[in-house]
Amino acid sequence: MLCPRLKKLKCALVVSAAFCVLIGPYQWLKGSTIDDRIYYDEPVKLHFGDKKDSTLHLTDPLLNQELQSFKCVRLFQNDSVEMAKAATFLSNLNYSFSRRQDEEFLELASNCDQFKKDWGFFVYPPSQEETSFPIAFSILFHENVEQLTRLLRAIYRPQNQYCIHIDGKAPGSIIEIVTRISSCFPNVFIASKLEIVIYASATRLDG
Ligand SMILES: *[C@@H]1O[C@H](CO)[C@@H](O)[C@H](O)[C@H]1NC(C)=O
Ligand SMILES: *[C@@H]1O[C@H](CO)[C@@H](O)[C@H](O)[C@H]1NC(C)=O
Repeated sequence: MLCPRLKKLKCALVVSAAFCVLIGPYQWLKGSTIDDRIYYDEPVKLHFGDKKDSTLHLTDPLLNQELQSFKCVRLFQNDSVEMAKAATFLSNLNYSFSRRQDEEFLELASNCDQFKKDWGFFVYPPSQEETSFPIAFSILFHENVEQLTRLLRAIYRPQNQYCIHIDGKAPGSIIEIVTRISSCFPNVFIASKLEIVIYASATRLDG
């Protein structure tokens, strides 16, 4: 259960909003005139036939097709029809999606073009204004490579710089996986000195 303490509808709202943050930019761009400038111009290819027998991931094409049928704007407007549809959709999934194992990302990020395409990374700056105003991000990473990938996917723009600090407590295998992901992007780096971060302490700042 994703939100055990929340009532179902509240949970649906929260999760829908999260989906919209993740999926929204894609839908927005699909409908916009700069469609051809991002990596989304190929038809979706289905990998499996019966989703009931498969583990669903947010990036799976079949699930994405379903998600694309949602109108995020209407969800934010609390449109009763769209909200009911979202609540049904989420309850069928028991309000949860499977998480990819960290190790899977070694394989997923071994083909960078495919990785960027599958995960929907922006590959061109979306506007002249943003191009001329690049931003540097510092990401403190501790665990969960899929979460890191989703975060990066949401904030990634080619004109920005991203420095990922991996907690010094993380195992070497995690460093290898995150290094593989960062090698797909010329502007994503791993911090050269990895601190052991203790929450709510000064080491958070060191990181
Ligand atoms: C959304 O609409 C429902 C009824 O359809 C209502 O009960 C609820 O309070 C509304 N929520 C917000 C945040 O407006
Ligand atoms: C959701 O939970 C029910 C009851 O536990 C189960 O039968 C069903 O297969 C689950 N659905 C998914 C998509 O995991």
